[in-house]
Amino acid sequence: MKNFIKRTIDHIRRKPLLVKPVVSHRFIKHQDKTDWGVSIHMIEKSGRAYARTYWYDDDETVVILEGLHVDKEARGNGIASKLLELHIQIAKDNHASSQLKVKEGTWVYEWYKRKGYKDFVKCKESNDIWMILLP
Ligand SMILES: CC(C)(COP(=O)(O)OP(=O)(O)OC[C@H]1O[C@@H](n2cnc3c(N)ncnc32)[C@H](O)[C@@H]1OP(=O)(O)O)[C@@H](O)C(=O)NCCC(=O)NCCS
Repeated sequence: MKNFIKRTIDHIRRKPLLVKPVVSHRFIKHQDKTDWGVSIHMIEKSGRAYARTYWYDDDETVVILEGLHVDKEARGNGIASKLLELHIQIAKDNHASSQLKVKEGTWVYEWYKRKGYKDFVKCKESNDIWMILLP
């Protein structure tokens, strides 16, 4: 019995602890002025996530979210939520609407709906749909 307990304790000690990696999300911003408009690239500080907000000079009433992506192992920690929040803040600060394209019927589409986005324009050749968040 004593040996069994000792073996069990030794086994537990050898087992690596399950520690969920702490993902703290701070973002680095890079702004890029081109001949057609402005892009703001938002990158999570360790490179685990990215999103771009852009708008055209000839229509500053619309800001567009593109390329939102979080590394698989960093998902579920609220990083995309924070990136979306930053994007929406840019739209709000400029009294602009936000637009983005997503696959209709996916959970991501449902998430944007929970965030207040509405269906805007369906793409003819794919299952993609443009959604809009009014200012
Ligand atoms: C979509 C994506 C960016 C989400 O990133 P994330 O950092 O894991 O998202 P968050 O942790 O901030 O969660 C955002 C919301 O989605 C929900 N969610 C996250 N993963 C989910 C999953 N696998 N299934 C269903 N819902 C999920 C969360 O509960 C949260 O909802 P809430 O705001 O109502 O609480 C990430 O999965 C990804 O990079 N996917 C591939 C690229 C992609 O689809 N980009 C979107 C293009 S439009």
